[in-house]
Amino acid sequence: MNLILLGPPGAGKGTQAKLLIKQYQIPQISTGDILRGAVKEMTPMGLKAKAYMDAGALVPDGVVIGIIQERLNQADCDKGFILDGFPRTVAQADALAKVLADLGRSIDHVISIVVDKEELLERITGRRTCRNCGKGYHVTFDPPKNAGVCDDCSAELYQRDDDREDTMRKRLEVYEQQTSPLIAYYQRELLLRSIQGVGSIEEIQQKIVSALQG
Ligand code: AP5
Repeated sequence: MNLILLGPPGAGKGTQAKLLIKQYQIPQISTGDILRGAVKEMTPMGLKAKAYMDAGALVPDGVVIGIIQERLNQADCDKGFILDGFPRTVAQADALAKVLADLGRSIDHVISIVVDKEELLERITGRRTCRNCGKGYHVTFDPPKNAGVCDDCSAELYQRDDDREDTMRKRLEVYEQQTSPLIAYYQRELLLRSIQGVGSIEEIQQKIVSALQG
């Protein structure tokens, strides 16, 4: 199954992708995670991407399209994949279709997770991420067993630089301007299913699984 999770920052794409990995045994491909890894490693790509990410802007299309092209050619994607945070512009969606066509493949489903702005702000400002394994938490909605410490690997939890309120507001504007046109794009392709992303994490997972099976 070749799946795209679409939605604004904080909609729950990463949280749901982690659950879908277990359900469908296919990898999550998060351009945000890949870019944060490159920033941490201080690679040339990471150094270039950091300024855009810190400002809440999108990294140039050419950079992320290159990442995806390389990643989709890896063997673990043969049975399918979950794209989280890509595509984010019409140019990225067009490039994705071409990369997949060259591989004799196509997208099967696009799930758009809909959450209102106030809830998104609350989720993002309360998000904490494990410094070691990248697992996500929320101080109120999905807290770790011990405050500030990852349940899985006991490493420290931190707040992402781009999760501050001013940057978050910018990211939401960028989503509206550059990414939300993809809703109509994938509606035209008859691939889009929208689900309300408010409720417990488990309830939303059930809605996604039902949409994928429906
Ligand atoms: P990226 O890392 O992709 O960030 P994002 O899309 O802004 O998404 P988030 O990770 O903020 O949110 P999410 O939807 O995954 O929510 P989560 O599950 O964590 O991108 C970061 C940056 O990288 C971009 O700004 C850009 O600069 C660059 N970039 C990345 N991809 C790019 C691309 N394709 N092109 C160009 N640039 C790119 O959940 C959020 C919080 O809510 C968590 O705390 C979670 O515990 C909580 N939560 C989840 N579900 C629920 C629920 N049902 N109820 C209550 N709380 C919940």
